[in-house]
Amino acid sequence: MSDNTNNLPDGARRPEPGAGEHDGVVATRPEPDENGIVAESMVDDPGIEPHVERYSDVDDKAAARATRQIVACFAAAPVLALAFIVFYFWPGLDRYTIEFGLLNANAQHVLLGLSLGLAVLLIGIGAVQWAREIMGDHEISEERHVAHSSPDDIKATMAEVDKGIAETGLSRRAVIGRSLLGAIGLTALAPLVTLADLGPWPTPSRLKVTNERTLWADGTPARPIRLVNDITYTPIKAADMEIGQLVNAQPENLQEAHGTEKIVAKAKAAIIIVRMDPNSIKIPASRTDWHVGGIMAYSKICTHVGCPISLWEQQTHHLLCPCHQSTFDLGDGGKVVFGPAARALPQLRITVDDQGYLVAPGDFTVPVGPSYPERQMTAEDKGE
Ligand code: FES
Repeated sequence: MSDNTNNLPDGARRPEPGAGEHDGVVATRPEPDENGIVAESMVDDPGIEPHVERYSDVDDKAAARATRQIVACFAAAPVLALAFIVFYFWPGLDRYTIEFGLLNANAQHVLLGLSLGLAVLLIGIGAVQWAREIMGDHEISEERHVAHSSPDDIKATMAEVDKGIAETGLSRRAVIGRSLLGAIGLTALAPLVTLADLGPWPTPSRLKVTNERTLWADGTPARPIRLVNDITYTPIKAADMEIGQLVNAQPENLQEAHGTEKIVAKAKAAIIIVRMDPNSIKIPASRTDWHVGGIMAYSKICTHVGCPISLWEQQTHHLLCPCHQSTFDLGDGGKVVFGPAARALPQLRITVDDQGYLVAPGDFTVPVGPSYPERQMTAEDKGE
């Protein structure tokens, strides 16, 4: 017999007689090539330890006890999930605090965290106990294969999957599966109740007093609202506006609002006032009395995703949004001339009072700011 030892490539060695056997169990190892060479492993193959039966494999009482533990975990999870819902809606619970050692926190937050956290933890503990005590625990070994699977392998794999499912014990102890489904289903429901914090359902009547209303709605033709400088709150006279000038403004009644209400109202009612040469602009037929000698007021809120805008090009009458470069032509009904915005900039109808101050006799005729699913496209949205 010829000796091929000198022909062995680096990192390769001949198989030793009897190698791969451990306590009578034959371990898996690569097949030698046509020269009888086997690629050397990084570590020795330890083989497979002899299988040791668990108590739950040989003792029905132990198996029943493990089943009870698992079901108890899965049954407790929905109870905690229901407790989460109760704590969430418990009136006045957020007025209390829990003080315990270093813990000093809102009682409702602590109880919500504990109830839902424990529910998830118990599902996890039940699943682990199920795997440890009930599911099959036979060690297996398998040779490495090429990446893709042959039809025979797929068939064999599916047979193993079926076998695995059978070994979960579900066929004999269906109560585990049912309790797990109940635990996961009801526990998943608990976080859904927090969607209530997203706000009231956007019905048409609700939208009319929220998205579609600004502070300018307090004005009437008999008692119009003055336009004031957004920093100094001083009223703005039409005669003080020069051609090409832009002023950021707010309604005078904004000063009557406070706190969060004021912040929200300010964000929606913000406008820019621009003065353009009336001979150099196009005014839609429906808006001929919305301006004062070329002085026009537009919403300051971009109709794309709501950035405040005031980058003004005097010569072109274009207003550029710095966020995504939507560009509106204020000399042509606020039409979009560039960028992702889908709607023209809403215009506010203005006039002057008997002292020459700019005033608004009512609200915008279309909602300001970005689009939302319930909104229809109107002629004004197209700048017409
Ligand atoms: Fe103005 Fe996007 S927010 S272009």
